[in-house]
Amino acid sequence: QLLDPEQRELINLHVLDDVPSTNDYLSARELVAKYEVCLAEKQSAGKGRRGRKWEGSYGRDIALSVKFESERGVSGLDGLSLAVGVALADSLTRAGVEGISLKWPNDLWLGEKKVAGILIELSGELQTRCEVVVGIGLNVSMAEDEGASINQPWTSLATDGGLPEISRNSIAAKLIAGLISALERFEREGFAIFQAQWVSLDALKGREVFVVGQETSGLGAGIDAFGAYRLETASGEVRLNAGEVSVRAK
Ligand code: ATP
Ligand code: BTN
Repeated sequence: QLLDPEQRELINLHVLDDVPSTNDYLSARELVAKYEVCLAEKQSAGKGRRGRKWEGSYGRDIALSVKFESERGVSGLDGLSLAVGVALADSLTRAGVEGISLKWPNDLWLGEKKVAGILIELSGELQTRCEVVVGIGLNVSMAEDEGASINQPWTSLATDGGLPEISRNSIAAKLIAGLISALERFEREGFAIFQAQWVSLDALKGREVFVVGQETSGLGAGIDAFGAYRLETASGEVRLNAGEVSVRAK
């Protein structure tokens, strides 16, 4: 059984062949279940954060989006992308993938290379109801030449995850189950319950880190209760807000 029956009732699943972006596909649709879930074999215009592109390849990556309504409002969703990262890392580790860590704010690493990214898009009220689309791109078995235009080190589960024969369907089902359960918990309790696990998976902890496009650099010192990243710099602690900056390890 791919999903447990209770969870299955909460989900309306769209499985598509080729679509520009699974996030955009769901954004344009009404909720008919608590969670609209979309999986695509291929995206022709996959999106990263702030106008960046997400590359994929037919049948060799997972492009997954989940849309739902949150009563927390936009301002109550701090840390959601970090909580989603914890849920993904957990599902992948349970599936037997070794070496997953979280690179603040929205990437999953295998070793030192990006294997997945999270894109969260919000619309609606600050304090009350808002619509949330959580998008996840995961490289399952993408060949090296298919990611030739990716401008940072990247890898796939098949290459570096210790599971060369990995089943994409079974991983997708596990990700959906883990994600829905995390979203339910986040809605009730917020980010705090994910914080300790996030800290234990922090890829940048104790490393020399710099902020892309700025002079700021320092030692990675984990996150605060809102999911902001703390850097120990020569002139004291600096907190970085997700959404505003990108960081890299030196
Ligand atoms: P940040 O550190 O802030 O997350 P980022 O450079 O990773 O910054 P994102 O917007 O998170 O930027 O992700 C988009 C970037 O991810 C692209 O610019 C590209 O470098 C990289 N990328 C695109 N497709 C893939 C892929 N399939 N696998 C790994 N990385 C990818
Ligand atoms: C990132 O690293 O910036 C996030 C990448 C998110 C990619 C996923 S793939 C499914 C969903 N649809 C999109 O257009 N983007 C996200």
